[in-house]
This record gives sequence, C-alpha cells and structure tokens, in this order.
Amino acid sequence: MYISNRTINSAKLEAALFGDASIEEEHRYFHQSAVPFRSVSRRLSPKFNLVFFRGFLSKLTPITIMNGQVPTVVVLKEGTDTSQGRGQIITNINACIAIQESLKPTLGPLGSDVLIVGGDGKTTISNDGATILKLLDVIHPAAKILVDISRSQDAEVGDGTTSVTLLAGEILKECKGFIEEGISTTVICKGLRKASQLAVKNIKELQVEVSSKGGANRELLENCAKTAMSSKLIHNNDEFFTKMVVDAVLTLDQEYLDEKLIGIKRIPGGSMEDSLFVNGVAFKKTFSYAGFEQQPKQFTNPKILNLNVELELKAEKDNAEVRIEQVKDYQNIVDAEWKIITQKLEAIEASGANIVLSKLPIGDLATQYFADRNIFCAGRVASGDLDRVIQAVGGSIQTTTSDILPEHLGTCASFEEVQIGGERYNIFKGCPEAKTCTLLLRGGAEQVIAEVERSLHDAIMIVRRAVKNTAIVAGGGAIEMELSKRLREYSRTIPGKQQLIIGAFAKALEVIPRQLCDNGGFDGTDLLNKLRAAHAKGEIWFGVDFRNGGINDNLKSFVWEPSMMKINAIQSATEAAMLILSVDETIKNEERASAGAAAAAQGARGRNIPR
Ligand SMILES: Nc1ncnc2c1ncn2[C@@H]1O[C@H](COP(=O)(O)OP(=O)(O)OP(=O)(O)O)[C@@H](O)[C@H]1O
Ligand SMILES: [Mg+2]
Repeated sequence: MYISNRTINSAKLEAALFGDASIEEEHRYFHQSAVPFRSVSRRLSPKFNLVFFRGFLSKLTPITIMNGQVPTVVVLKEGTDTSQGRGQIITNINACIAIQESLKPTLGPLGSDVLIVGGDGKTTISNDGATILKLLDVIHPAAKILVDISRSQDAEVGDGTTSVTLLAGEILKECKGFIEEGISTTVICKGLRKASQLAVKNIKELQVEVSSKGGANRELLENCAKTAMSSKLIHNNDEFFTKMVVDAVLTLDQEYLDEKLIGIKRIPGGSMEDSLFVNGVAFKKTFSYAGFEQQPKQFTNPKILNLNVELELKAEKDNAEVRIEQVKDYQNIVDAEWKIITQKLEAIEASGANIVLSKLPIGDLATQYFADRNIFCAGRVASGDLDRVIQAVGGSIQTTTSDILPEHLGTCASFEEVQIGGERYNIFKGCPEAKTCTLLLRGGAEQVIAEVERSLHDAIMIVRRAVKNTAIVAGGGAIEMELSKRLREYSRTIPGKQQLIIGAFAKALEVIPRQLCDNGGFDGTDLLNKLRAAHAKGEIWFGVDFRNGGINDNLKSFVWEPSMMKINAIQSATEAAMLILSVDETIKNEERASAGAAAAAQGARGRNIPR
C-alpha cells in the first residue's frame, strides 16, 4: 500500500480513485508518484484499498475510499506540523548556512569577537565557537546539529569549534546544488563519506611527528598552545599565558592528565598579566572569627591537618533541651561542653599540625586557641578546594580528632596568605604530591576574565592532547589547502557523480583559508590562487601568513596544531552534513498550549460517546 505525498495530477488521480482507470494503471500511477509511507500505512488497516493525504502539509488526515463511504482516520494529533521532501532538505541546509554565517567573522587570529546579551541581561564576549552557539539558543532542529558538533568538538579536543561548524556548513552549501538537481542523498552521502576517509588518510600521511627528547616536548606544547590562543583576547599576552598553560598541564599526573585538577580562580581587577600560576593550591580566605589576625600567616614546611569536624562551642539552647534543678548543674553543662571542645583542640595541637583546615566552621574559641599556639586555621573551606589541597599536600581528611596519626597530616614547601586585588588568598606552594595547580586570573572586567578562562581552557585541552599525541600539522589553512588539492586530484581519476561530490568536498575545505583571509582584510581570491599554485608545486605546508599578509610555510613559522584536532573536525563535520542531508522529513509535535486546551480537546473527541 502506498500513500502519495508528491505532485498529483488531479485528472489522473480522479481516474485512479473513481474507477475510470484500470487496476494496473492505478498501481502504476501510485508506484510512480508515491513515496512508500511505511510508518503510516502500517498503522492503517490493510482492508483500506487506497489511501492518500488531503492537505498533507498541514494535517495528516488520510481518507479512505471504501464502498462509497469516506471515513476519516486520524493518524497524528491535530496541530502536528509535518514538512518533507527535497524542499525540507534545502530549508535545513539554509538554516545551517545561517549558523555558519554567524560564526564566520570569528575565525582566525584576526577574527572578531561576539558580544551576546542573554535573556537575563548577562553579557558575554567570546570568540569561542561552541560558547557562541550555546548562547545563541538556536531553535531550528537541523541547525541544532551544528551546535551539537561544535560542543562535542569542545569536549573532545577543546579547540577548533568554529572550524568544524564552518566546514559542516560549507559542505552542505556545496551539496545544495546537487540536491536541487535531484541527485539522491544516498549518492551524495556515499561521496562525502569517501572524501572524509580520504582526507583523514591523507592527514595521517602528512602529519609530522615532533620527537620528544625525554619527557614532554616543551617546544611542541608551547607552539600548539600559542596557535590555539592566537585567535583569542589573550593573544597579546601569549608568551605569558603559553608558559602558564604548559606549566599547568605539566604539573598534572602525566598518566591521567585530568584537567579538572587545574583550579581556575577569577579575581576581578588588575591587568591580565597580574594573573598568577600557583604550583599547588590557592583558595580565597574563608570567613574567620576574632583572633584570626593574631595567627601566623606564613609557614615553611608546615604540617597540614584537613578536617571534616566542627570546632565550635555550641549554644545548646538552640538545639537541645536540658532540664536542671540547680544553678550549679548549669555550670556543669557549660564545663562539659568546654571540656569536649578543649579535648578536641588539645588533640589537634598534640598532632603537631601548624595549619588546620576544615570543611565545617571553626568558631571564635578555637580560632583564639590556635592563635595562642601559633597555628593557622581556616573553616568552611569549599569541598572542591579541600579535595585539591589533599591531592597536593598528601594526608587524608579526618572526621574525628581522637586518633590523628602523623601519616594523616600533609605538608608543602611553603604556605602564605597574600593579598591579591581586593581579596586575600591562602596559597600552598611546593606541594610534594603536586598533581594539581591553580591559575589565579586577573582582568579589568568580569566578562574579560571569563573569556580569558575560556581561551585558557582551549589551550589547556590542546596541550593535553599534544602531550600524548605528538603528531602535528600546520595551521593557517595549510592542511586544508593540501587536502583540497589531493582530493581534487583523486576526484579526477574517478567517473560519474562521485567525481563531482568529492570535488565539492575539496572545494568546501577551502572555506578555512578563504575565511581567514576575509577576516584579516586580505584579498581572499588572490591569496587562495597563490596558495593553490604553491601547493601544486609541492609546498605542502603553505598557508596564510598574517604578519605580512601573504603566504608562508606555516610549519616553519610554528603555526602548529595537533593533527588529531583536524581529524576530529573533518569527521564530525562530514557526519553532521550527512545527517542533515539524510533527513527529508520533519514532524513537529508542539506541546499543547495549556492544560485547559488539552482538556477541551479531550472533551471534543469524546463528545456524545458513552464510556
Ligand atoms: N598565527 C597564525 N597564522 C595563521 N593562521 C593561524 C594562526 N593562528 C591560528 N591560525 C588559524 O586560525 C584558525 C583557528 O581560528 P579560531 O581559533 O578562531 O577557531 P577555532 O580554533 O576553529 O575555534 P575556537 O577556537 O573558537 O574553538 C585555524 O585554522 C588556525 O590554523
Ligand atoms: Mg581556536
């Protein structure tokens, strides 16, 4: 059984429906014009011998012709919006191109930043593709796929989120013509898959292994970090931040490289270069009581005790009821409380700790007690910070003070409480177990620091990848131009439609160098021609040179990017493009506006029907 949703010649249709046509003609007509509409036909009873849609774009209301009666079969609920066919694919492509257009100006070192004002009035300035797309709040279902690939690129590699979106958009733009000409999406997807496989294969052949001379190769890491941050707000201070990022990643456990152990704290005020790298842990001074000022704020090789114990003299009238007969009994209770807390404090003192940190409050009595004995204390330390302290200084968190052994205490080379901007910070440096570090970021405005943090995240993720994977390619459009050349050469060796499709993929890759030129204000056509000529001559690493506005060997000028990032970008962009091309129908099922409307609809359906 077939349900037609395509151009229907009304005269032929009438003939087919009302018996002027023979059964064979009827069948041929529906076979020619119809798209098998399995999902719907399966739901309809097989005894209906003919089914088609009336007003198929607005409501799916199949009518069946049976013995002259016309019963209505409702398949999808009222208000369901369906759109399908080639037009639908083209609409989806147009939506993706719109997304691509909005990101284009942000690509590359001379790309601009975007200021986004959210619904809550919060402003964000960013150059990061994933962040911009996340904040744009895209509602088009197909365009959302591009948002998703940029996010997954961000999670997987950290950088290249703008490139992946641009590439997916460009592949779709190139394929739009094929769809309009009626080439089947299956054929197009086959070509794209082949092209993507070839591109990845070629990257693997072309990539350059940067040999590490024992341990991590600092030069490699610094160059990759510098390229990642060259397009960001921090590029003017790239020397400073490159060192910070590489130091940060190298302090991590090189086996696991858990970037969550790099703590990032934002302190408004000062300039970006006032930011600090702490090879250990730093956290904001916690709330403190009287007596705190008398405590020492500096130690060398201190013993650090981490607690999850409250050190406060409780005013029991708040949380307990005690009945007493005489006044002296009340004194006994006060004495008992005093004794309990003093025992705890004495036990801590006996453990030999110089610094006492607790997740729970440390009250004024304890603060004064510690001050008298030259011990530093901080209560209500955020759980994440305390966990990082333990990771760095060693020892373990204690939930009681009665059995503190020397191995429960941690240590570090130096502890200091310092003033940074308007805040005081507790800083633990030279930690023996240091598998963690902290970046204290400074900047004039909150938005600036937030963007610095995002840019550092990109660079940290790239360096993390580069530690493990030392293969690189040259950026600035060099690798894209070379892949484009190779794919084009390959496409000429094969016949048929696949030649066109692989050629289109090759052309789509050129979007990266072209956009880099456009954003830099260079003549894109001229530079692209020069690049094509250079690559034809075998200069495989020639890309856009921003310093002189020409072309240059970007491998020699250290515009390096991990090859894995490019592989990931090409694969995800192709997959997204194929996904969007293969969807030729959208069924949108809007939520009912209100419960009242839903109830009314229910009532209408059930009217006059006894239950
Ligand atoms: N010094 C440079 N010279 C030439 N090209 C460069 C230079 N630094 C970076 N690029 C190029 O700029 C592009 C990266 O731009 P950008 O960082 O804006 O986008 P992205 O990395 O794709 O996405 P995002 O950083 O937003 O996640 C890459 O193609 C890279 O090769
Ligand atoms: Mg980048």
